Amino acid sequence: MRRTMVAGNWKMHGSLQTNAELLRALVAAPRATCEVVVCTPFPYLAQAQQLLAGSAVALGAQDCSMHEHGAYTGEVAVGMLTEFGCSHVIVGHSERRAYHAETDAAVAAKAQRALAAGMTPIVCVGETLQQRERGETEAVIGLQLDATLHLLGERLPELVLAYEPVWAIGTGRTATPEQAQQVHAFIRERARHRGADADAVRVLYGGSVKPDNAAELFAQPDIDGGLIGGASLKAADFLAIAGAA
Ligand code: PGA
Repeated sequence: MRRTMVAGNWKMHGSLQTNAELLRALVAAPRATCEVVVCTPFPYLAQAQQLLAGSAVALGAQDCSMHEHGAYTGEVAVGMLTEFGCSHVIVGHSERRAYHAETDAAVAAKAQRALAAGMTPIVCVGETLQQRERGETEAVIGLQLDATLHLLGERLPELVLAYEPVWAIGTGRTATPEQAQQVHAFIRERARHRGADADAVRVLYGGSVKPDNAAELFAQPDIDGGLIGGASLKAADFLAIAGAA
């Protein structure tokens, strides 16, 4: 049985004050049955580590360097993240792929680096609207996945994958449960085909998940939870989504 997960991706949002309110509300809520993770901006990791101490809510980052350490101005190493209690890290988010030219190979290398540090990488894949309309969804996602499968296929159950259609992120336009399920099943098949223990790997859905559509999405057989952007910034919404998982 795969344990469901709900991970909040705060993106570049937050302040010391609003973070404290949000994290205190999450910690005070009854413990969710799914795994709950919050991925904060780097400068807030120390604050979040302190506020989440002793709770069941895990802490994650939104990116990491593929290098162990060295002259990489502006980058953050996995060893630094673990010092601040991070157990998870998002890699290959479509915003990083689009605005920071992250390649599939770089994403795979970051995932490998995170695993080596004992962290769980959340590896994101997803097609743009144009790619979907051209009928290229599976081809695009297959390619995005292959670098990671090639490098880490045997360790796949230690990773979390996230399918986030770019056209559904922050747009209020969610993939239908059927559309999402179809791609999730494809991802699992691809992993199986590449020799990985595909039934053990968790695949999250992300893209405009809200309290009112979460249950339907999470009811799909190959959807193991969600990666939540906007709705993770409101405690009540995030908790409702975790409750649906
Ligand atoms: P959204 O973002 O929930 O705001 O659409 C999801 C994500 O980008 O991880």
